[in-house]
Amino acid sequence: MTHTDTRRYLPPEDLVRNAHVSGRAAYDALVAEAEADPQGYWGRLAREFVSWKKPFTRVLDDSEAPFFKWFDDGTLNASYNCLDRNIERGLGRKTAIIFEADDGRVTRVTYAELLERVCRTANALKSLGVAKGDRVVIYLPMSIEGVVAMQACARIGAIHSVVFGGFSAQALRDRIADTGAVLVMTADQQVRGGKVLPLKTIVDEALALGGCERVRHVLVARRTGAPVPFQAPRDIWAPALVDAQPATCEPEWVEAEHPLFLLYTSGSTGKPKGVQHATGGYLLHAALTCQWTFDLKPEDVFWCTADIGWVTGHTYIAYGPLALGATQVVFEGVPTYPDAGRFWKMIEDHLVTVFYTAPTAIRSLIKAAEATPSVHPRRYDLSSLRILGSVGEPINPAAWTWYHEQVGGGRCPIVDTFWQTETGGHMITPLPGVTELVPGSCTLPFPGISAAVVDETGQELPWGQGGILVVKKPWPSMIRTIWGDPGRFKSSYFPEDFKGRYYLAGDGAVRDARTGYFTITGRIDDVLNVSGHRMGTMEIESALVACTELVAEAAVVGRADETTGEAICAFVVLKRPRPTGEEARKIAAELREWVAREIGPIAKPKDIRFGDNLPKTRSGKIMRRLLRSVAQGEAITQDTSTLENPAILAQLAERS
Ligand code: WT7
Repeated sequence: MTHTDTRRYLPPEDLVRNAHVSGRAAYDALVAEAEADPQGYWGRLAREFVSWKKPFTRVLDDSEAPFFKWFDDGTLNASYNCLDRNIERGLGRKTAIIFEADDGRVTRVTYAELLERVCRTANALKSLGVAKGDRVVIYLPMSIEGVVAMQACARIGAIHSVVFGGFSAQALRDRIADTGAVLVMTADQQVRGGKVLPLKTIVDEALALGGCERVRHVLVARRTGAPVPFQAPRDIWAPALVDAQPATCEPEWVEAEHPLFLLYTSGSTGKPKGVQHATGGYLLHAALTCQWTFDLKPEDVFWCTADIGWVTGHTYIAYGPLALGATQVVFEGVPTYPDAGRFWKMIEDHLVTVFYTAPTAIRSLIKAAEATPSVHPRRYDLSSLRILGSVGEPINPAAWTWYHEQVGGGRCPIVDTFWQTETGGHMITPLPGVTELVPGSCTLPFPGISAAVVDETGQELPWGQGGILVVKKPWPSMIRTIWGDPGRFKSSYFPEDFKGRYYLAGDGAVRDARTGYFTITGRIDDVLNVSGHRMGTMEIESALVACTELVAEAAVVGRADETTGEAICAFVVLKRPRPTGEEARKIAAELREWVAREIGPIAKPKDIRFGDNLPKTRSGKIMRRLLRSVAQGEAITQDTSTLENPAILAQLAERS
């Protein structure tokens, strides 16, 4: 394959001149340095970008591969690196966070103020008995408190696990139970798009579901001040406790491999996995990629629109920008409230220079701008912007072009960053002062990342041929293990198919025959990407069949969707005769609500189709590829000769 899009976008000259990585020759030199001596390269950067309490003497220990260790005899503290260090460099009065609430209210905190809040919160955690290595689940809205909570855990060596506010009580319980958390940090309520979500009540429900007996306390922040159920002595109001604490807190110096956080993500089978990241290597890549991919400079105003419940919000809100002493915007709300011009208004108001968002948001804002001219980006002054970023899913060339022209005024490079929860930070991405862009391609690996496209046997494929995306060498911010399940870590990411040597990303990719640029062709496992959120089909299937009263059997596949990238399509066999018409619609609505309760609203199937059965082979295996065609509304061209019950396909094609 070669790129079908023939447009080329060269980096603007003034940007190239002043960029941290300036020009293709500089990029090539970094790639060559990393290639010739990976340990020398990563060691050099780890000394430049991270302050160590005790310097490391060893860069990589691969003696227990694939359980790699980086900088493992060094000690450091992530919160020291993100806060104290900046203040020591004279940035105490610099704005760290510009927080804009759902209703538009703006709060600013400086680095000195942020440090004080982190220290008080860290002391509050300590006063509740939280110690190094303990797990703390954070179920907080997008807020300064959310970032403070993460940094406070890092300060005392507690391992945080942030759970996205959109997850249900059941999903929250599963994560609390799996981590063995001793404390949950939450707020009375969350407000997004004018709607209130009762976070504290959801925490109560989660804990009541059982299996969370190690939780001693729930620390509750105030967001709305609404009355919420409160169980003393388990529940504690955060403001009273935190404000009473000393304003300083000596950082806990941890080994580089000490886990910084666990973050749950969906795999192709089984329950969500707790991806474990290590302090030293992760922090290095967070800072490094923030500087090189976003070319962050002291005067920049960075805005990453992700939620701290996802890895993007970890690396590019809670850690990366702070490690560089940058100023960033943190936003509580949603892009469409009070109207779909909110992002553009905020860029204008806060003079945002580097803006990082997801294709799904762009696609929905294109639609909105086409329908309502007053929310079109051209109605706003976006001249502060200099770099745009995209993350979470492939950005289709039409959305790319609109983003480039209408938002970036044709002058801002778009960095289409490919990476994953497991990779900790950017893996394949343009650099704004280096890369000639091709819409729809994430271009070339970040220097030091040895991405490749291989066949099923691990043989590297020539450019132009599609295959499996792997990473051939370890890198500092890679996943260390799956919490509590090292076996699953090995089999998921370092499978024997590649002799356990290569990291398997789970995506397909192809390199352009001429430029070697990568294009991601989508997941090669049963993982869906809905609005940039990763969902396991098996997870949704288990949620559906857990509705034992109604559901006999369920199969979930993805289909293409114009706005959300992929949409969830569920095929369901009920324990009663196949419903049609009004009844089918009613049951479908019930099942959607059921899934929202089991997992969260993001997992609600868009389509639900009912059948008397599912298409199966004679040995009883569900034929998913047929279901994918049905979901897509395509004519069935595949061989159906092995199908036990071909008539079922027509039935499943009917929409309810
Ligand atoms: C999966 C990882 C990366 C942080 C947010 C999502 C897809 C991610 C891109 C991109 C094409 C992308 C992949 C990947 N993905 N970025 N720029 N182009 N696909 O993290 O939830 O761990 O999901 O998102 O399929 O495997 P995640």
